[in-house]
Amino acid sequence: MTAISNHRCVLICQNRTCRKQGSASVLAAFTRLSIPGVEVIGSGCLGKCGNGPMVLVLPNTVWYSGVLPSDVSMIVEQFLLENKE
Ligand code: FES
Repeated sequence: MTAISNHRCVLICQNRTCRKQGSASVLAAFTRLSIPGVEVIGSGCLGKCGNGPMVLVLPNTVWYSGVLPSDVSMIVEQFLLENKE
């Protein structure tokens, strides 16, 4: 059996506070880009309410706060650069 320790995903909080701050359109922007090998997940509360929309990139545990749909392509670029294998 092989443990999957390098699962790459982007969590976009879709809980109440982040939703009020526009997280649905941030999730839509990530989904539209459909990044190969990266799972995009609309998550529950990430515990940083009030700073949203909150985005968490794993496995590197990189946080982004106050994300706008227009920030998404820059986040994806950074993410792909840092996660080159
Ligand atoms: S509602 Fe998004 S971090 Fe809590």
